[in-house]
Formats: sequence, C-alpha cells, structure tokens
Amino acid sequence: MTAVPWGITNEEAFERARAVLPGGVNSPVRAFGSVGGSPRSIVSARGPYVTDIEGREYVDLVSAWGPAILGHAHPAVIAAVQEAAALGLGFGASTPGEADLAEVVRDRVGPIVEKLRLVSTGTEATMTAIRLARGATGRDLLVKFAGHYHGHSDGLLAESGSGVATLALPGSAGVPAAIAAQTIVVAYNDLEAISAVFAERGSEIAAVIVEAAAANMGVVPPEPGFNAALTQLAHDHGALLILDEVLTGFRVSPAGWWGLDPHSHGRPDLVTYGKVIGGGLPLAALGGRAEVMDLLAPLGPVYQAGTLSGNPVAVAAGLATLRAADASVYEHLDATAVTIQVALSEALTAEGVVHSVQHAGNLFSVAFRATPPRDYAEVKAQDVFRYPPFFHAMLDAGVSLPPSVFEAWFVSAAHDEVAVGKILDALPAAARAAASAG
Ligand SMILES: Cc1ncc(COP(=O)(O)O)c(C=O)c1O
Repeated sequence: MTAVPWGITNEEAFERARAVLPGGVNSPVRAFGSVGGSPRSIVSARGPYVTDIEGREYVDLVSAWGPAILGHAHPAVIAAVQEAAALGLGFGASTPGEADLAEVVRDRVGPIVEKLRLVSTGTEATMTAIRLARGATGRDLLVKFAGHYHGHSDGLLAESGSGVATLALPGSAGVPAAIAAQTIVVAYNDLEAISAVFAERGSEIAAVIVEAAAANMGVVPPEPGFNAALTQLAHDHGALLILDEVLTGFRVSPAGWWGLDPHSHGRPDLVTYGKVIGGGLPLAALGGRAEVMDLLAPLGPVYQAGTLSGNPVAVAAGLATLRAADASVYEHLDATAVTIQVALSEALTAEGVVHSVQHAGNLFSVAFRATPPRDYAEVKAQDVFRYPPFFHAMLDAGVSLPPSVFEAWFVSAAHDEVAVGKILDALPAAARAAASAG
C-alpha cells in the first residue's frame, strides 16, 4: 500500500478544503474545473518535483505559475530567505535590499526602467500602472486585448483568458458597468482593429496594456513588429504603452520578452513585473521612465501604498533568484523547452491528433487545432475536450501540467535529464488518451 504520510488522501483534503474555502481553493484555476477530478494537495516541492499529501512525487511543469525558474526550494534562495527572516519579517520602513533589487532590474532591462516601485502582486502592479497612466494623461480610457490577463482588478477582467476562459465566464460579476465601460477590448495581433479604435477615440485613451507575449490563453506571441507598432500608435495619440511582463519578465530571457528583441518593441512607458522577480514570495513591481514614475506619491499626485510593499524577506528571495539566474540558466530553460515541445508534437502526431505547439521564448503550450492561434477567437476554436484526458494521463504517470489548456507550461533550471525523461516517457500514452477523447 502507498504510504499516506499525512493520513488523508487528495480527495479527502479537497473535501475538507471545500467546506471552508470557496471551491476548495484560493485561486480558481487550481480547482481542476476544466479537467475534472480532485486537485492534488501539495505539501512540499524540491528541484523539478512537487509532492502531494499522499506522498506521491510529480515532475512539475507549473513551476508555481512561473516564479520557480531555478526549480523549487533552490538552496541559495532558501538561505537568503532564512537569513532575511532571522533579521525580522518586515519593518514598514525602507530597507537597502529594495534599492539593490531596483538596480538589478535596471541593469538587466536597461533604459525602459529608470525607476521601480515594489508592490506585492502582479494585479497591484498593473492596477497601479493604469492609475499612473491615467494620472499622467488626464484621460480615462484603457485599451486591452482579448485573451490577455493582467490580474483581477475591476476593468481588466473583460475577455481575460486563462482562469476566466477555463470557467467559461464572460468576465466577472461585481464589476460596475461604469468601470467596465472604461475598457475597450480589441482582438490581439490585429493592427487594423486597434488603429480603428485610436482613429475614433484616440484623444480619450490613457493607455494600451499588452502582455509582452500573450501567455494566458496558451502561448500566442505577438506578430513581428506588433508591439513596436502598438507603441508607436499609442504615442502618436498621446497615450502610454504599458508592457505587462509579469509572466514573461526575467523568465524568457534575462530581460524578459523585451530583452529577446529590444529593437522591435518600441519603448514602453511603463513595464510591470511579478512572479520571477519575487522568487516565489509575494513581490511584484512596476517601472518605467522616471518622468512618469515620479508622478507616484510621495513625489506626485498619483496615490499608491502598501503595508507589505518591498517586504524584506520577499526582496531577499527575488534578489537571490535574479542573482542565481545567469546565462547558463536561460540556455538550459530554452533547450529544455525545445526538447519537450518536440517530443510533445511527435507524440501527438504519432497518434494522429490535430495540434499545434506554439512558444514565446521558453514558454510554450499546445492547442488542439491545426494552425497556431493568433488571437483569442482562434484559441477558443480548438478541440478543448482533448486536454482533460491528456492532462490526467500525464498526472497518472507522475507529471503535473497546468490544469487548463489555456495556460503556458513552465520549465525550470532544475529540470534535468531524469525529470525530462519522465515527461518524455509519459507523452505517448497521454497522446493516445487525447486521440481517443470525444
Ligand atoms: C501577464 C500577467 N499579468 C498580471 C498577472 C497578475 O499577477 P498576480 O497573480 O500576481 O496578481 C498575471 C498572473 O498570472 C499575469 O500572467
């Protein structure tokens, strides 16, 4: 019999959670809503593996939804956190580590971040960036793209991909109509559509917010030159461009998506970061031109504050992560991502499953359609029903994938030959399960 170290099964743990937590979870996509079954209750993680409450180990391709770029519980990060925690958990005052982190970010991304403000979540970072853009321009309207997710603040949930798409929700209840009306949603990768919006309402638009490369509807990279054209269009009309690198930042290259191809981007006014920058603890940031950033309180009239902003333990985790993520880490992530993508595609092809695998740097995902989707409408036009059996076959074989087809897969520096071998071994049976679905 399998050892059950915590004395309960995953099912029992989920039942218990459901009695006291809405849906048994603290973030919707964890609920396995689109793949069915009980979520695994995770008790520990190390390197490329997570371990559930029944003592079962899985190769992890969720990587905490991005932060665990070095693998779980990396010794340098754990040591930095322990050292910081021993000095006190937070002081509600400035610490030297905050400026260290801002300098590390500036050194990595160069001129797009002259100044940085630390917050606790990606949602706060984008929410603040939007307020800042409105404060800077004196305008109200925001343009976002269908299928792009920028956190769960009011005004950003219209057609916001992953979690909302997984639950087949049109947006969210509880968002006042007056606030929803301030957001214009445009099809991604469609310059004509956004040009038409600017032609009609350009003088009212404060900002365009765009995922640097879309990865919350599965991975859909921008067409070459799209981000640059967008930036130009915004600037031509006196609006700001907010580049959301919460997911891609410091993951797809040392300087995020921006760093992969700096010349094709144009220069964004504000950039948001999360996930990797906090090394697994609650930390996120927004940065940009000093002239815009200095509009934030206490210097300027745009208010933003946070009891936990720049928390020293979170800053220590972020700093240790960024310092350890050297060129060899990114080479490993890229190579590992390619190996898995090739094997994934071969396994599905061998079973005759219509699919496409698409990537943005080392972030990738599968779509069950013949051509890689370019926008949210195409993402939704796929054989979604093939994913649940594929997912569960992988899980049964000891590989933990994101529990939704609308999510990216995340590799880490700790995914060594043994871990990748387990993924490759699991793929043929999972492809068979996908083939026989429906
Ligand atoms: C691109 C992007 N922006 C913003 C967010 C929100 O970040 P958080 O979940 O830390 O609030 C996410 C989260 O997945 C994201 O992927």
